[in-house]
Amino acid sequence: KKWYAVLGDPIAQSMSPAMHEAWFSENNIDASYIPIHVPAQGLGEAVTGLKRLGCSGWNVTVPHKSAIIPFLDHLEPSARQMNAVNTVHVLQDGSLVGSNTDGLGFVRSLEEAHGALYKGGDVLIIGAGGAARGIAYALHSSGYGPITFTNRTMDKAEELAQGLSGTSVLSVSVAEASLEKFSLIVQTTSVGMNFAQQGMPLAISNVAEGAVLADIIYNPLETEFLKEARNRGAKTMNGVGMFVHQGALSFETWTVKRPATKEMIGKITTTLG
Ligand code: ATR
Repeated sequence: KKWYAVLGDPIAQSMSPAMHEAWFSENNIDASYIPIHVPAQGLGEAVTGLKRLGCSGWNVTVPHKSAIIPFLDHLEPSARQMNAVNTVHVLQDGSLVGSNTDGLGFVRSLEEAHGALYKGGDVLIIGAGGAARGIAYALHSSGYGPITFTNRTMDKAEELAQGLSGTSVLSVSVAEASLEKFSLIVQTTSVGMNFAQQGMPLAISNVAEGAVLADIIYNPLETEFLKEARNRGAKTMNGVGMFVHQGALSFETWTVKRPATKEMIGKITTTLG
């Protein structure tokens, strides 16, 4: 029987095990998926253990996404570009291949909800961390853009834009003033989890009609950012779709089967609601 895992710290809250187990069962694949609590200093030992015990592949989450890289034999372009891995696939010969499905997961969830409606429109990404980078890279590779970054710390946004062709930078205040030109706005900062203390990452009073505002956070299902966007009549998208699609892409990497994503998004939304 094949088995898979997710490594992280913390890990108890992860919804990946239930999601993958459901997909294995729906696809009649005799496999299981377990959460493993791995603190930062324990990663090397964990990888050795997983190899010895015949694990077929695993997901990697905080704080290991970049730290896992030295333990892998090969990186897919997605992981190399982002300098972060969320999926490890163990090949027949035992070699370890790292990829990153987070960014493409976002694009797939956008397209499952809206088709290619936002292709060709201006994209604004709020934030300049790993999530912003992954999403920008995947959007750009999938033909979206032009892409603009805005971030509290301008230097970080500029550094990011320099490393990714087809992207540029605006200060938060200029982005707020010119918000109506963007048809897709993606909130990637950690502010979404506690707006109460930190306020909005960007004021959205000038948002265009018909624009879609996406937040990568899924717990809470509706961040203050999305709530305000919805109250202004904009279309909104939370992070459940991105979470499900990044997992679906890992599942495809391991099994070459495409799992049911819409149903899973519905199930997780109900669980979190
Ligand atoms: P991740 O890898 O999850 O994207 P990260 O690399 O730590 O996380 O990046 C966090 C992002 O959230 C950054 O864009 C950060 O802005 P700074 O570059 O200015 O630090 C943004 N962020 C975090 N707290 C914020 C706050 N209170 N207001 C605005 N932006 C914030």
